Amino acid sequence: PFLNLITKQNDKLYFGTATNNVQLNDTAYAAILDDSRMFGQITAANSMKWFDTEPERGHFTFQDGDVIRDLAKRNGQLLRGHNCVWHNQLPDWVANGSFTKPDLLDVVKTHCGTLVGHYRDSWDIVNEVLNDDGTFREDIFFNTTGSEYIPTAFHAARAADPHAKLYANDFNIEGINAKSEAYRNLIPQLRKQGVPIDGIGIQSHLIVGQLPTDMKENMEAFTAIGLEVAITELDIRMTLPETEELLEQQKKDYATVIEACNAVKGCVGITVWDFSDKYSWVPGSFAGQGAACPWDENMKEKPAFFGIVEGFLG
Ligand code: G3I
Repeated sequence: PFLNLITKQNDKLYFGTATNNVQLNDTAYAAILDDSRMFGQITAANSMKWFDTEPERGHFTFQDGDVIRDLAKRNGQLLRGHNCVWHNQLPDWVANGSFTKPDLLDVVKTHCGTLVGHYRDSWDIVNEVLNDDGTFREDIFFNTTGSEYIPTAFHAARAADPHAKLYANDFNIEGINAKSEAYRNLIPQLRKQGVPIDGIGIQSHLIVGQLPTDMKENMEAFTAIGLEVAITELDIRMTLPETEELLEQQKKDYATVIEACNAVKGCVGITVWDFSDKYSWVPGSFAGQGAACPWDENMKEKPAFFGIVEGFLG
């Protein structure tokens, strides 16, 4: 079965994946990636990030990002921009720079405006700006500008592309908790002040057997305040070694996530954070964990893949 063909039947959701430049010459991988019957949407996992797009102030380098953009275009796949402002993967001049508040706001404005002007599509404008307890993350942006960098980023993006869907994106907001509630306070506040925010990206880096039970209610709480919702970075990891039991639970868990999005009017699509275990970020970041993706390291569909199919078919 082809996942994006299935999603097209209900004329609502897209199914997509993140990908990276380094693996595009893996022919078995690329054959699946390039199949628009399977993926209707692509996110660059790294190559549109700040370190790669503005390595020096005012010097923009779009080579890597353009490769991903061109691939999506060639295949008729939607593109999601990821991301304008994030505390991680910053070039040195930002991470270790010393800025006055107006200067850093100007830096943010130029960066977001230029990126969104270049890649005109849905965008994660701010990424991971809150802590799990709902307070602001104290990164260079917050420590220098307070929360003002957030309106600045969104306004610059809107000015660069009036049609782009502009998102805040974060992890640990899959269920109803302090962090997701904090976004439900923050975003309407900002919108009241005219800040153009269209949607909330729910990353969804989940753990097998440990899904929040209120994912649907949580998405509905976001759509109830007029936000578009997207599942932007789905993967469901396990403690290795993989067993038949874990793979079966993972299948159920993928189905549960897809069903939840499918059932919520206003959940526009689902992106997996790469589709093959061969290129997953998980083992590199969580020792002893992995096997988080729907395809295995040999590009063979896992039970999780069929869980996604079931989730879409309902
Ligand atoms: O490019 C260098 C390469 O030159 C070097 O040889 C190699 C050795 O470690 O590292 C390469 O850089 C790596 C980079 O990915 C590109 O592959 C970094 O070490 C590695 O830390 C980096 O990881 C990325 C991670 O963000 C950084 O935090 C992952 O690929 C990427 O999937 C991940 O994506 C994030 C989202 O942007 C935001 N949400 C969470 C998600 C998972 O962490």
